[in-house]
Amino acid sequence: MILAGQYVRDLLETAPGASVTARGWVKTRRDGKNVHFIQLNDGSSPTDLQVVVEQGLLAPEVIARITTGASLTVEGDLVASMGKGQKVELKARSVVIHGTADPEEYPLQKKKHNLETLRPLGHLRARTNTFGAVFRVRNALARAIHQFFQERGFLYIHAPVISSSDAEGAGSMFQVTTLNLEAGKPADFSQDFFARRAYLTVSGQLEAEILALAFANVYTFGPTFRAENSNTPRHLAEFYMIEPEMAFCDLNDDQDLAEAFLKSLIGQVLADCRPDLEFLSKWYEPELFQNLENVLAGPFERISYTEAVSLLQKSGKNFEFSTEWGCDLQSEHERYLTEELFKKPVIVTNYPRGIKAFYMRLNDDGKTVAAMDVLVPRIGEIVGGSQREERHDALRDRIREHAATGMHEENYWWYLDLRRFGGVEHAGFGMGFERMMMYLTGMKNIRDVIAFPRTPGNAEF
Ligand code: 4AD
Ligand code: MG
Repeated sequence: MILAGQYVRDLLETAPGASVTARGWVKTRRDGKNVHFIQLNDGSSPTDLQVVVEQGLLAPEVIARITTGASLTVEGDLVASMGKGQKVELKARSVVIHGTADPEEYPLQKKKHNLETLRPLGHLRARTNTFGAVFRVRNALARAIHQFFQERGFLYIHAPVISSSDAEGAGSMFQVTTLNLEAGKPADFSQDFFARRAYLTVSGQLEAEILALAFANVYTFGPTFRAENSNTPRHLAEFYMIEPEMAFCDLNDDQDLAEAFLKSLIGQVLADCRPDLEFLSKWYEPELFQNLENVLAGPFERISYTEAVSLLQKSGKNFEFSTEWGCDLQSEHERYLTEELFKKPVIVTNYPRGIKAFYMRLNDDGKTVAAMDVLVPRIGEIVGGSQREERHDALRDRIREHAATGMHEENYWWYLDLRRFGGVEHAGFGMGFERMMMYLTGMKNIRDVIAFPRTPGNAEF
């Protein structure tokens, strides 16, 4: 295996003169007059390691097998490089070919690709420069998320993937069952594996609330699932969500934390992944750095839903969807506010109760709830959160109001209990990990920031 200090990333930073072993896959091979140049990479760096094989070291039929996609171990000496873009190159003493990749067959060699043609190649696309950059950014983002919360004393918790409650009350859940559900036969779910209906979770929030009322500040970071049939560039059926939940916290604290969180993540990934972001900016989003630095530049705009609606009505724009008070903000509205009007992130608060989840705290006006959505240019909603309804009777009434959508008070007895025993004001939010990845990388389609996207009609890899 490749040990720490031996990755291509490390070799590129090693002083000339060292005798080293490099392992990886061939990006390209060029043949000079007296030498062969092999670009080798193990996925650790946007820059390949140039391997120089002098004429005569390997038989011509061996050289011929070193083509794009082949896996190699090369032993040799690092020497100062004449070429631009790298300080050192590897002068080979021995080369072992582990696996070849027939250029007539290897899909990444056969034709020129773009993001769409790479999607059906889910088993190979990670070897391209683009996906190398994307997945390194993904790793850096995950680390930055943990770092942010750990530095603030938050407890990392794991919410269950299988759940029996519809946390968002949206009814777009995948059912989990071991029953043989044949069409037409009414199923008896008391005979099912969990002796009740069970689903893949849409959010870890309700469980996070349980643990926040024991540990004060907690966060989840795990997969969540939505069976909404929305085939858009911003929706996945399986995505990762980060959900902090804080006791003794109101909507203002919640907004402050979300803003600090987004700024911290962007600052950290800019510091950790600059060469990868430069590559992505060059090929996919010329304004990437400007967009990211704009988030760091100043405070986010904060407006109420009611103000947002009046700004949309005054905009003179011909929106496709209604901008009447009471209607949900659509992507076109969100993008107008953040891209055109304020040209920076916008936090919209206090939405009408009718369009938000049952657990959000009812405001004194009786019409709005203490919700907040963070909108960013290019993406729209990146964070959704709220202060939770901590008053037992108010929450019970909200659950009863939702009976028509299939919510049953008796299933939420434990959630109501939290309001009977040591209840306290609390709040939290959820950030879509892949939405943040889109913002950071400039990728326009959410399918290109997760290795194995799950979307309607698509679960092959
Ligand atoms: O706004 P949402 O639905 O909020 C919740 O689930 C709350 N329980 C969060 C909380 O307060 N703890 O989802 C939160 C975020 C969205 O802002 C969006 O970034 C992302 O999750 N998201 C999706 N990302 C990709 N594909 C989907 N289908 C998504 N649905 C939501
Ligand atoms: Mg939302």
